[in-house]
Amino acid sequence: MPVPIIIDCDPGHDDALAIMLAAADPAVDLLAITTVAGNQTLEKTTLNARRVCTVAGITGVPIAAGCDRPLLQPLAVADDVHGESGLDGPEFPEPTVEVVPEHAVELIHRILMEHPEPVTLVPTAPLTNIALLLTRYPDSAARIREIVLMGGSTDRGNRTPAAEFNIHGDPEAADIVFGSGVPVTMCGLNVTHQALATPQVLARFEGLGTELGHICAELLSYFASTYKRLWGMPHPPLHDPVAVARVIDRSIVGCVDANVTVELHGQYTRGATVVDLHQYLDRPVNAQVAVTLDAERFWDRMVGAVAALGARHTP
Ligand code: RIB
Ligand code: CA
Repeated sequence: MPVPIIIDCDPGHDDALAIMLAAADPAVDLLAITTVAGNQTLEKTTLNARRVCTVAGITGVPIAAGCDRPLLQPLAVADDVHGESGLDGPEFPEPTVEVVPEHAVELIHRILMEHPEPVTLVPTAPLTNIALLLTRYPDSAARIREIVLMGGSTDRGNRTPAAEFNIHGDPEAADIVFGSGVPVTMCGLNVTHQALATPQVLARFEGLGTELGHICAELLSYFASTYKRLWGMPHPPLHDPVAVARVIDRSIVGCVDANVTVELHGQYTRGATVVDLHQYLDRPVNAQVAVTLDAERFWDRMVGAVAALGARHTP
């Protein structure tokens, strides 16, 4: 039976492919897409979610906009990484997929309470919407199967030396999520950097011979240009789909139990995930932390999803 999921995202090049994987892989049932400010403003991440669903032919999946700023700190977008639009690279047609009027937190809560079984939340952005859900609706926690998030890192950051972008984007929200008691799986940079979009991967998308495959290759080509420019990396890591892959097939993403604490006060470390892999601290296990990726099977599922969508729909 496919696992019911909701993806909470900030498209974002890697979020875009995470949406496609979640919409097309038969192991999951995408119930809703919610957006939050992060990579770009809420207006732009929501427009981008509509663009992705339009070109991928994803219909019947409600898109709801959520929070337009972090809980406490000001919004700081990643236009240096994802561009002015948040999805620079390809030209997108006018979106034909609309947004529902409900706030993301209200939509997630309603689905959680109405769905016949607990739902998995897959946040691939700052955790503002999820923290607000857990705070505004404590009853929702029992209806969440697990939270499988892309964020954090067992070692270094990518927004500061210590902090990864999604956690750094709203540390208080992340602290609420990791302290909620809901089962959490953290897919951090240490594992997503094993999902490198090499030229061979881009060739697989182009080789599909579909408009959608070409759009994915263009997205990854743009993403590669920013990773080369900003970090000198030859190939960009495709972060967000790794969290979806963990839900699709747990053997693709290997995890260990650990305590994860979000640093809120460090002058140079605010937003860092302090992952206690060796039980140095007397703090309880509160997360499964992803440490390994079967990259071959990951890319097979990712390319397979785009192939399935492209076969169904030519934008
Ligand atoms: O650090 C990577 C994360 O930050 C990804 O979710 C990417 O989309 C950005 O949001
Ligand atoms: Ca993201």
